[in-house]
Amino acid sequence: MPYYFRLGQVPHKRHTQFRKPDGGLYSEEVIGAEGFSGISSIAYHLHPPTVVERIEDPIPYGVEYTDLDFLRHRHIKGFEIESGGDWLAARRYVMGNEDVRLALAEPTDEMDYFYRNAVADEVVFVHEGEGVLESPFGVLEFTAGDYVHVPRTITHRWKFKEGVKRRLLVIESFSEVRFPKRYMNQFGQLLEHSPFCERDVRPPSELMTIDAEGEFEVRIAKHDYLHRLFFRYHPFDYVGWDGYMYPYAFSIHDFEPITGRIHQPPPVHQTFAGRNFVICSFVPRLYDYHPQAIPAPYNHSNIDSDEVLYYAEGNFMSRRGIERGSFTLHPGGIAHGPHPGTVEASIGKKGTEELAVMVDTFRPLRLTKLAVEHEDPDYMFSWRPEAFASPLPSNGH
Ligand SMILES: [Fe+2]
Repeated sequence: MPYYFRLGQVPHKRHTQFRKPDGGLYSEEVIGAEGFSGISSIAYHLHPPTVVERIEDPIPYGVEYTDLDFLRHRHIKGFEIESGGDWLAARRYVMGNEDVRLALAEPTDEMDYFYRNAVADEVVFVHEGEGVLESPFGVLEFTAGDYVHVPRTITHRWKFKEGVKRRLLVIESFSEVRFPKRYMNQFGQLLEHSPFCERDVRPPSELMTIDAEGEFEVRIAKHDYLHRLFFRYHPFDYVGWDGYMYPYAFSIHDFEPITGRIHQPPPVHQTFAGRNFVICSFVPRLYDYHPQAIPAPYNHSNIDSDEVLYYAEGNFMSRRGIERGSFTLHPGGIAHGPHPGTVEASIGKKGTEELAVMVDTFRPLRLTKLAVEHEDPDYMFSWRPEAFASPLPSNGH
């Protein structure tokens, strides 16, 4: 929901005659959230978006969680989870709840269908990879470090550049994903104190406007199934659209960190908000500059949050034994904090190159069986002073 945007041709007045060169009418569609009260866009198709030729049996696409005892700190080695196949086949769910689900994906094959998630916004953090997201709203280029936000109901297709490794963190939100309200004024504009602004948001750049007839499969996620509908007309047939609902990209490298004399709390890293969860970006930044400052975070009991960190790049100052692609899950109910030695080691350090994505949920998360299979069983005990046999290296990480 970044801001009003328009691409291509739209009539001067909505819901009025808008004709093709041959005199026929374009087919208007309002794509809107929460009835007619949420954000929306109005699109103009070459052909009606309603013509379905046939339907095939749906593909089961639910997520099962384990029923193990969850009150433990967890470390899941994400890069050890094998993946492959096309965009949806490659998705490996690791945890979730009623509000949000997290998956990793390492797609190896092209999509030979189009995809639409009818129930969840998808925010995809491109850890590695490069390519274009195609949708009727236009072509959206992405590269490593981008968050690509695809609002629910938008038909799309991911196309990756050949020869470039692909690793994605997929965040599915069963509610609209938006920017934090406190970053915006009453008019919806991002304020001066926001760590990013509208210029950092990249909408689709160019329409595709494909006029083609045939059978175009759209796989629609709903009710734990992928429903297979075959439409007569190519779904990327907009000649124009305008409004607030569209896919866009935002690079984590355009997030300007907020720093201070003493340790700043995690909300300064917040980037997105959904129902009962937030997404935060930890980016390279200077450390606190009070002469007595302790850059490492304090121990904390975040009573109403389960905190998930996905480690992308760099050394994570307060953690030891963490790898690229690791998840940590620190659930509400038990305190967590810096690993032994990291508090002292952080003192006097000037900055960090860490890059990580955090998802804090306000309702408890459940893990999948796959996540548990790739868990470091010793992580819960890694705060014992004797847990790490070797002394800290001199750089403190
Ligand atoms: Fe925390």
